[in-house]
Amino acid sequence: MKTIAVLTGAGMSAESGINTFRDSDGLWENHRVEDVATIDAWYRNPKLVLDFYNERRRQLVGVEPNRGHLILHELEKNFDVQIITQNVDNLHERAGSSHVIHLHGELTKACNEHKTIVKDIAYNEIHIGQKLGDTQMRPFIVWFGEAVPEIERAMKIVETADIVVIIGTSLQVYPAAGLINYAPKHSPIYYIDPKGADILPSRVHLLKKGASEGLEELKNNLLANR
Ligand code: OAD
Repeated sequence: MKTIAVLTGAGMSAESGINTFRDSDGLWENHRVEDVATIDAWYRNPKLVLDFYNERRRQLVGVEPNRGHLILHELEKNFDVQIITQNVDNLHERAGSSHVIHLHGELTKACNEHKTIVKDIAYNEIHIGQKLGDTQMRPFIVWFGEAVPEIERAMKIVETADIVVIIGTSLQVYPAAGLINYAPKHSPIYYIDPKGADILPSRVHLLKKGASEGLEELKNNLLANR
């Protein structure tokens, strides 16, 4: 069975109704990254940070995986599908995907200050004063300024993939964006995004489409050439 490494970003969940970060009306248009998604923001104003992620978690309750998520699950019948996501939502899991690495953490988990204790919190809020171990409980999110521990595992998957698929990411945030450079020379790289990124290696096949439409087309292509 061939292995497909799939790198997903916010655009993967856009058709489920979750805003991306950098599109017009994206999350970073209405919130300053420095206020809500950095380790400094957490030290400066934890309440604001908790409010931001409590809202993201609340929103998850009302959304569903889209056709694109479901196609990635369906591909498991014929391929070893390894998903590496920058998304903190749980829509890949809810669509049934078996192998999902979250580079930037998970909304449905919380941790202590140094991330040595991690706990499932489902869709519950985190409050100021709520402890995990002996520190304030915090969202299990990788903020700007923090290490990305899962990147090593992700690199190994991309390095040995037969096919690489990138979906719905502006490829502006590292180290995730750098994963594309680990794709083996002989492995095709497909990139599904209605806009596409500014700088792409020439061997990338760009499908300028939304996640569902692009994945439908790619699925047929992959199944025909497997
Ligand atoms: P961005 O908001 O930077 O990019 C979203 C991408 O999705 C853009 O390239 C859009 O063109 C594309 N897009 C929009 N609608 C789409 C659709 N229906 N189907 C497919 N693609 C669509 O989001 P990311 O690249 O995921 O990190 O951002 C990376 C990281 O930056 C996030 O994980 C987050 C953010 O700051 C942290 O918070 C640590």
